[in-house]
Amino acid sequence: MASLIQWRNLGLLVGIAAGLLMLAFLTYPERNSLVAKGPMNTGHEGLGCEQCHVPVKGTAAQQVSSNVYYWLGLRNKTIGFGSKDVESGDCIDCHERPDDRHPISRFLEPRFAEARKHIRAYECVACHTEHQGKRVTLSTIGYCTHCHQDTELKNDPIFPTHADVIRSKSWNTCLQCHDFHGNHKMITPTRLDDGVSEDRIWRYFEGGPSPYSSEKFVEPRAAREGDEQ
Ligand code: HEC
Ligand code: HEC
Ligand code: HEC
Ligand code: HEC
Ligand code: HEC
Repeated sequence: MASLIQWRNLGLLVGIAAGLLMLAFLTYPERNSLVAKGPMNTGHEGLGCEQCHVPVKGTAAQQVSSNVYYWLGLRNKTIGFGSKDVESGDCIDCHERPDDRHPISRFLEPRFAEARKHIRAYECVACHTEHQGKRVTLSTIGYCTHCHQDTELKNDPIFPTHADVIRSKSWNTCLQCHDFHGNHKMITPTRLDDGVSEDRIWRYFEGGPSPYSSEKFVEPRAAREGDEQ
């Protein structure tokens, strides 16, 4: 009787191990190349998968046990299988822009709690979901509304003024005069007629040329520095 139970336990363990191996297989990066989600986004066509999908540390056995502990609630984080989640830090390794006018880290501050309900401006993929074959994946250009309701300028150089534009809820005009990160070398227009048409903004989001300028303050790096082997 006792030995029967032991055999059953063994069967169960073998079953669990087989299941885990299957899962490891399904989530392993090499296998992922068969099921890549879609075309790479603008500019990323030449990057290798591992430039973003950094392999996790540890042997296969360590990865399996980390996941078992995670599922049993004995670990807060899993080290994953094959590769770890792509995080904003991975993007910044190649796209560090010291003068970004909207640095994502700012938007974790408590005063943006309300804005965070509408836009996850604290992470790159909220606006640049990868594997979509685009540059910007937002479905709106007027999202400035979540943070700039109170923007007012002393001696406003534009007409109609910022206050007027905001009062009339013309949020789609903001990107016609400003880029979002402030990385393009450009002179901000003071008349909407000199700004970019909405149509050109959408084409830029989809992967077309920049309507702001072809020159940037900081160009991205083609490869990450300090990648651990
Ligand atoms: C520029 C960075 C980058 C590169 C290069 C990249 N990916 Fe991704 N990949 C991502 C991000 C980010 C996600 C998560 C989707 C999201 O939330 O935007 C993702 C998601 C995935 C997923 C869905 C599973 C998951 O982890 O969410 C697969 C599968 C995948 N990538 C495969 C590939 C393959 C295969 C390649 C090489 C041809 C590749 N990726 C290259 C950034 C990248
Ligand atoms: C290994 C370095 C690397 C990583 C990691 C990386 N990128 Fe890129 N990215 C590039 C390069 C190189 C370009 C092409 C720039 C060009 O064509 O001038 C680019 C282009 C882009 C562009 C289009 C820029 C333009 O003006 O056309 C966006 C947007 C972008 N990356 C966002 C991201 C996001 C978001 C992530 C993280 C999910 C990320 N990148 C991760 C290197 C990287
Ligand atoms: C709230 C939305 C949003 C977030 C969050 C965001 N971006 Fe963007 N990004 C945009 C928009 C809109 C544009 C097009 C306007 C422009 O060129 O600035 C853009 C343009 C870019 C470009 C091309 C212009 C340039 O600056 O060289 C790159 C590269 C880029 N983003 C990378 C990133 C990275 C990396 C992160 C995370 C650190 C990030 N973005 C976070 C909305 C966002
Ligand atoms: C998640 C909140 C948030 C969103 C969304 C947002 N902004 Fe901002 N923006 C800020 C903050 C915070 C500042 C800095 C203001 C300050 O320091 O007082 C800023 C500053 C700016 C500046 C001035 C930068 C400088 O260097 O003087 C411009 C221009 C700007 N935003 C335009 C936009 C446009 C255009 C959009 C929409 C495409 C947008 N913002 C969306 C929060 C946001
Ligand atoms: C007709 C073009 C135009 C439009 C439309 C426009 N702006 Fe501006 N904006 C400017 C100019 C010009 C400045 C002066 C500073 C500069 O040169 O960037 C400015 C400055 C700003 C500043 C910096 C304020 C400061 O204290 O320095 C913010 C923030 C801003 N705009 C946000 C917005 C938002 C949000 C919208 C949409 C509601 C918007 N702008 C629409 C042209 C425009």
